[in-house]
Amino acid sequence: MSAKLLDGKAVAEQENGRTRERVEALAARGITPGLATVLVGDNPASRVYVANKRKTCKKLGIASIDADLPADASEQQLLETVARLNADSRVHGLLVQMPLPSHIDDHKVLEAIDPRKDVDGFHPQNVGLLALGRPWIIPCTTQGILRLLERAEYGIAGKNAVIVGRSNIVGKPTALLLLALHATVTLCHTRTRDLPGLVGRADLVVAAMGRPEAIRGDWVAEGAAVIDVGINRVGEKLVGDVEFAAARERAGLITPVPGGVGPMTIAMLMENTVSLAERAH
Ligand code: GUN
Repeated sequence: MSAKLLDGKAVAEQENGRTRERVEALAARGITPGLATVLVGDNPASRVYVANKRKTCKKLGIASIDADLPADASEQQLLETVARLNADSRVHGLLVQMPLPSHIDDHKVLEAIDPRKDVDGFHPQNVGLLALGRPWIIPCTTQGILRLLERAEYGIAGKNAVIVGRSNIVGKPTALLLLALHATVTLCHTRTRDLPGLVGRADLVVAAMGRPEAIRGDWVAEGAAVIDVGINRVGEKLVGDVEFAAARERAGLITPVPGGVGPMTIAMLMENTVSLAERAH
């Protein structure tokens, strides 16, 4: 079998089209949705991600409110920036790009974000609501994965889902959402025993551990859906967490890297921003 490709770039374009219509409806009421992005330091990957977020805002008519702090900015300076953006009525969604420099306590920063403006869904209150099955906002990468599956008419209920990677940004929220959608969820990590065996029993694999091609193609079950969240630079090339060419031979559905989950994450960030603007008014 050669898997059907889930084209995240094309689906993201469609979702952005819907978001643009909602932006126009807000504009007709005199409201411009605004997204504040805070970037600390000069991590090259973070710079690229944040630049893409800001560029997409402009493309959709969302105001981009940019705050860039140097790598040696103090935690206090960052907390003051967050407080200023919390109080800014132009800002409906606010995110602080992760990871932060090691001298800053990221938990303290995420707790400082107004939960109503928490466009990533990383504030403890919003994590709690998600865990309870009453989400205020769904984290962008998780929402991007779910939307791609939905648009492919992939039914989640009853499926064996194996998630590899237990980050607060992707692995944990994706596990909670898939569970709420009635999948049987296994959340794997670096200490998991027999990862090949678990992946081989999965109907749905979500690879989100940030290790280039660590999920071997021959682990994947025939016909499985494979969602690759990884973006790893290997020399000049970008590769995912899945050994794509080999996995594609066995899977039923697979996302490419680049052009899979990445564009969907940004599209869902835009959608979340507009949802927060609609709720604020
Ligand atoms: N770093 C990697 N992914 C994300 C994300 O979705 N949001 C934020 N704030 N930082 C990230």
